[in-house]
Amino acid sequence: MFSVAIDGPAGAGKSTISRRAAKNVGFIYVDTGALYRAVGLSAMEYKIDLKDSKRLKAFLLDTKINLEFRNGEQHVLLNGSDVSDLIRTPEVSMMASKVSAVPAVREFLFDLQQSLAKLHNVVMDGRDIGTVVLPHAQLKIFLTASPEERARRRFRELIAKDPATDYNQVLAEIKQRDYQDSHRAIAPLKPAEDAVYVDTSDLNLEQSVDKVTELIKERISCG
Ligand code: DC
Repeated sequence: MFSVAIDGPAGAGKSTISRRAAKNVGFIYVDTGALYRAVGLSAMEYKIDLKDSKRLKAFLLDTKINLEFRNGEQHVLLNGSDVSDLIRTPEVSMMASKVSAVPAVREFLFDLQQSLAKLHNVVMDGRDIGTVVLPHAQLKIFLTASPEERARRRFRELIAKDPATDYNQVLAEIKQRDYQDSHRAIAPLKPAEDAVYVDTSDLNLEQSVDKVTELIKERISCG
């Protein structure tokens, strides 16, 4: 199987670019952030205190997360219900970032991610895919953009749903999540040593997708 690991900070365009590049080369796209979001959503619903490790353990034992692929689109099932839309709120983003710093949560999701890469050719995106989950991926990409550019992109998405969205708050949240994701003790966001850097600050979506698709095709043909 061929694995492409794409890591980078929130809002760098990872999901859209990875999804489209995966389609271009006929691979399955796995959005691992959605898994952390599903755990975050469930932890919010059950009001789990993340410091209560006994309760957290019991909660994880009771939590079933699966990914389904319909027409190439990933759907996240939490205890049998499709939560693909429910996990896209700013509250769940923040909670996902918090649960993702808990080692027990990362262990819980590790096997699921690895088993997908054993079964399919994948483009998998996240924070630690090249460094921890798929250290033997044939291609690793670190996809990034400046915080301001990422905040502008996220702002454009959010304002369409909520006209009261405030750019400065979006920027502050992006910076806070960057800090949380890159300073946590376990599997912090950082580029793998052999990752190819792609900065999308000055690229539009088409150009970013083309760049990543080219990198994958090139690596496949070397393989
Ligand atoms: O990519 P995203 O914004 O949907 O991810 C949500 C949160 O999950 C993010 O704050 C960091 C965390 N995450 C992680 O720790 N490891 C991954 N492989 C993917 C996401």
